[in-house]
Amino acid sequence: MPACSCRRLAMLFFVAALGGPWSAADAPDPHPFGTAHGGLDGWATGAWWEKKGKRPIELHVPRHDVIAFALYTVTVAPAAPATLKLSAQFFPLLPDEPREARLEVRRDGAWVEVARAAIEYPGWDAHFRVADWDAGRDQPYRVRHAARATFEGLVRRDPGDRQSLVVGVLSCNSSSTPGPRTEIVAGLTAADPDLLFFAGDQSYRHTQHTVAWIEFGLQFRDLIRNRPTVTIPDDHDVGHPNLWGAGGKRALRGDGADGGYMLPAAYVNMVERQQTWHLPDPVDPAPVAQGIGVYFTRLVVGGVDFAILEDRKFKTGPWGAIPDLGPRPDHITAAVYDPAAVDLPGLQLLGARQLAFLRRWAEECQGIRAKCVLSQTAFCGAVHLHGTPANRLRADLDCNGWPQSGRNEALRILRDAKAVHLCGDQHLAVVVRHGIDRHGDGPWAFTCPAIVNTVYGRWWHPADERPGPHALPTSPLPWTGDYEDGLGNKITMHAYANPGDLEDERQRGDGYGVVRFDCAAETITFECWPRFPRLGADDMPRQYPGWPVVAPLERPTGLRSR
Ligand SMILES: [Fe+2]
Repeated sequence: MPACSCRRLAMLFFVAALGGPWSAADAPDPHPFGTAHGGLDGWATGAWWEKKGKRPIELHVPRHDVIAFALYTVTVAPAAPATLKLSAQFFPLLPDEPREARLEVRRDGAWVEVARAAIEYPGWDAHFRVADWDAGRDQPYRVRHAARATFEGLVRRDPGDRQSLVVGVLSCNSSSTPGPRTEIVAGLTAADPDLLFFAGDQSYRHTQHTVAWIEFGLQFRDLIRNRPTVTIPDDHDVGHPNLWGAGGKRALRGDGADGGYMLPAAYVNMVERQQTWHLPDPVDPAPVAQGIGVYFTRLVVGGVDFAILEDRKFKTGPWGAIPDLGPRPDHITAAVYDPAAVDLPGLQLLGARQLAFLRRWAEECQGIRAKCVLSQTAFCGAVHLHGTPANRLRADLDCNGWPQSGRNEALRILRDAKAVHLCGDQHLAVVVRHGIDRHGDGPWAFTCPAIVNTVYGRWWHPADERPGPHALPTSPLPWTGDYEDGLGNKITMHAYANPGDLEDERQRGDGYGVVRFDCAAETITFECWPRFPRLGADDMPRQYPGWPVVAPLERPTGLRSR
């Protein structure tokens, strides 16, 4: 029999094995976000199995593979029992399949069921909470569904007794380049991080988050399944070009620059549930406008205390809030302008609730060896060229460098907490030391590269092509030292990874970050690795030129001690 006939026969058997066919009448609600948004998440809603058209991944999988991936964190607090929170993401289910998942852990050589959870719709995600978790030992787990589907992984013991903690940092996973992330997964597998941080833009599929999230999970699940993972959504994850959440209100403009969310609150909440339910519980859980949830929280891993922030949820939109200084509400191109003209009273960055949390968090030092803030984007605009090498902007307001007063207020708390900052979003990897009142008086910060940089290239390229004062004498990079960004924020540039030719997939400046907290040596090392390994003369992979950057790691003592 010809090979193609064999494949057709196999497909017929497969469809028959699904137990169908079903009609649209058997399907769950085809418009879970309302008929005005009928196509929203449409690849994974209603009679999804009947829908035609190209999909980035196969959704009709053999039923023993219906659990796409799982991700977890363990909440460890001093003098309190630990809690495991684990989310399992399913491929879309068929009408006769149970909407319940089970979680088992391996104890004394046998699998023991520890929790059951409903599989949510829309979203096809299930969420398990296990109290009194023993964080002192490795525990294999498996998620199960119906009779045959299984997904296995390992909840690692907390590494608090080790000298160092390793964190993988990633963001901006271009959907224009589908397929596996083979080299990045291999590099991070070798680095074996204790924690993974995906800072946002896990997908750019905007209105199809469930399928996009499964696609992301398939790309990274072999890393994620075996270590705690933080995922926080950014603008593209909720269908925006840029996001100014403005306390959750509805946005009316097509670019969202008036502030708020363009898509229905139920969709935003689904995205946030899929990406963040497994984080420790929100520290201040009251929802914002439209009933949109919040997830900002605290996660302690190995004695390193992470504050997980939502940069976008409370931030003011620029349209109508500040003077017009460029072709877009968020771009400033005016040759001459006063940065104070856009730093107006009442503009929000992190918002009062997150600032209050940050101040409380900064005081918590019992059993804590280091502090670190995780959020979507950078507290400066360490970029000159945007999108193309010809597009030089004076300032881009889509970063935490604006509004400047909110930026400085947040950075003062980070500095006093002795915290470093890790983020993504910018599509240009940098390490800076922030300046608040003067250069060098603020916290260190690492913006990781894009995972795949086929969406928007950016470059650090001062117009005068001169190093700043206090340039690094041994760096191979020409433009290090003290600068001001286009908003007047002080930064000291320590390293950057500019793209070369964006058309060449090996010159896009993309890849991943690895951050090593060495609590004994009191150093933190920021590493920046290219997506495709670059081998040195010794055949060993090399980081981008100018990396790694090694900075002091201060032990936290609380705000009152200052
Ligand atoms: Fe991005």
